[in-house]
Amino acid sequence: MLEGITQKYHDESRQGEALMIENKVDKVASRKLYIESYGCQMNFADSEVVASIMLNNDFQTTNDFNEADVIFINTCSIRENAELRIRKRLTDFKAAKRAKPGMIVGVLGCMAERLKSKFLEEEKLVDIVVGPDAYRDLPNLIQSADDGQKAVNVLLSREETYGDISPIRLNTNGVSAFVSITRGCDNMCSFCVVPFTRGRERSRDPQSIIEEIKDLYEKGFREVTLLGQNVDSYEWENETKTEKVTFANLLALAAQVKSEMRIRFSTSHPKDLTDDVLYTMRDYENICKSIHLPVQSGSTRILDLMNRTYSREWYINRIDAIRNILPGCTISTDIIAGFCSETEEEHQETLSMMEYVKYDFAYMFSYSERPGTPAAKKLKDDISDDVKARRLAEIVALQRAHSLERMKEHVGKTQKILIEGFSKKSENDFAGRSDQNAMVVFPVNINYKKGDYVNVLIESCTSATLIGKIIEQN
Ligand code: 5AD
Ligand code: SF4
Repeated sequence: MLEGITQKYHDESRQGEALMIENKVDKVASRKLYIESYGCQMNFADSEVVASIMLNNDFQTTNDFNEADVIFINTCSIRENAELRIRKRLTDFKAAKRAKPGMIVGVLGCMAERLKSKFLEEEKLVDIVVGPDAYRDLPNLIQSADDGQKAVNVLLSREETYGDISPIRLNTNGVSAFVSITRGCDNMCSFCVVPFTRGRERSRDPQSIIEEIKDLYEKGFREVTLLGQNVDSYEWENETKTEKVTFANLLALAAQVKSEMRIRFSTSHPKDLTDDVLYTMRDYENICKSIHLPVQSGSTRILDLMNRTYSREWYINRIDAIRNILPGCTISTDIIAGFCSETEEEHQETLSMMEYVKYDFAYMFSYSERPGTPAAKKLKDDISDDVKARRLAEIVALQRAHSLERMKEHVGKTQKILIEGFSKKSENDFAGRSDQNAMVVFPVNINYKKGDYVNVLIESCTSATLIGKIIEQN
């Protein structure tokens, strides 16, 4: 599952962000839509597809849910906490609905898929429930709700990729955008609810992906992140099966659109990350040298129980391949603490894996059993909350030290930065990202603007940010 970049994959701090749309529809739209998104970048990208469908159906957007005619909450089921947060948020919409008769509240995304019509019984204020593959049906479902009927569509599809829908960019900085390349997941990691909420894996037609990237370039965007639950298993064949496009091929095609367009991708699966992909990254300057490679655990026995289909040794082999083929490439990861039956020694193996890789960045979680998953059915969630919390704290502390160590390695070097806008703290500073995905802050120089590349000398750092100054080119 998916981050990094301007909008990171599974960045909990971004959860629940209201997405504003600059409404460019000519006719006067009659009804107002408010969308709030939770979870991974895939969900944020899906909300952009939803916005496109709604704007074509006579809606405009608002960032005030009190004045909305329709409120959509695009939900996440990945951990229990995410679901609890969404339930809480729904109570905020209750008063708004009471004050505005006829207001429609729709639950979209993974939680809608997981709970289906049960959601309508559990949450009386919800009018429509729509799974991730049913967004084309939204106008019909809204019509039903307008007629006073609660409506559900949670059909999963083997074909739907929304490839022909041009997403409306939400809350955009105008520089970086997400482009979905696959949907769903066939991996069946035992802890994960995604195969049940997002269905089987499908790859989007490469032509539509490339068209979308070209269009983004023309609109001024300079960075795209190709999104999928497992991008490396991207595979597209034409109808006659005479042409096949792999992820490495797709990366090359994307990089060729414009050399000034940076290409990122997320997320990679260690079992599928091929040397081919690494060589393609090496061959194109504009494919960013940064890989998100979730390890989950450093213990082969736990990886087996997780059904990750790789061992500790295999993962280390992939890390070595990245280091050999792409020196300087940054590596980030996801780690789960306290998975079923994890021993103290196995937890130590996770810490030693972290020592081996010295990740630049990590998303760290304690295991949260999800109903219906293979782990929930077959394994006992037998690590106490206290032990999970202590192991997670050890992982977080080690990662903090590694992040700082990695950031320090950039100090004294000059890096090419894509300016994303002003820094959050001050309009006297620009903020942008390095090729390797580090956030860099540096004083504004009036010769440059958002969307420009600049060379920045890195002078100092924190564990999350590099600080520098522009080096003028002659
Ligand atoms: N409990 C804890 N973390 C989980 N993740 C996925 N499912 C669970 C779960 N049940 C984490 C994994 C994954 C990331 C997106 O979320 O680390 O890579
Ligand atoms: Fe994204 Fe759904 Fe996974 Fe949450 S559960 S991270 S929304 S795919």
